[in-house]
Amino acid sequence: MAEHVCPWWIGYLLASPVRKLVHDPKKILGPYVSPGMKVLEPGPGMGFFTVEMAKLVGPQGKVLAIDLQPKMLEVLRRRVRKAGFEDRLDARCAQQTKLGIDDLAGQMDFALLFALVHEVPDQERFLSEIARALAPGKKALFAEPAGHVSREAFERTLATAERCGLRAESRPGIWRSHSAVLVRT
Ligand SMILES: C[S@@+](CC[C@H](N)C(=O)[O-])C[C@H]1O[C@@H](n2cnc3c(N)ncnc32)[C@H](O)[C@@H]1O
Repeated sequence: MAEHVCPWWIGYLLASPVRKLVHDPKKILGPYVSPGMKVLEPGPGMGFFTVEMAKLVGPQGKVLAIDLQPKMLEVLRRRVRKAGFEDRLDARCAQQTKLGIDDLAGQMDFALLFALVHEVPDQERFLSEIARALAPGKKALFAEPAGHVSREAFERTLATAERCGLRAESRPGIWRSHSAVLVRT
């Protein structure tokens, strides 16, 4: 595991309802996620955004959540089950060096990359996997915490994303975050 991966106990803080005051999942995800979509969420932690995505995709949709840490996934599954959306969730454990989502090639309608990419040691490989999973023209919302990631580092990641086939289309405002909407070219 990379040295700077978020410790599992921080997952409880990130999934706290108090966070909704500054990161309202409905407002953040609403413009991108609609009923019937298949959405990908790498690094979901304990599912702060996952529950809202499962709600937004509706009974015909699917959320694929992939985290490195089994403890994060254990709590995420519990939260999604409690919300009544278990049948819309596919929760998987990532491998150390890759997400391992070759089976999803071209199938995903949206990806959420929230506060995770700075923890990934090989960003080019990671972003290539995301690009492969998205169908052409589909979008990813990419956000990094401004407290941990400099503007320069964020711009470097956007350049890497572009090389991987994910072009920055717009810059939505998200509290204390650098953010961009990426389009699969
Ligand atoms: C800072 S937390 C953010 C959690 C969530 N996205 C949120 O905003 O509440 C980062 C999460 O990404 C996971 N993670 C880090 N590197 C990863 C990788 N290479 N593949 C999958 N998950 C990863 C960590 O285990 C952790 O759950």
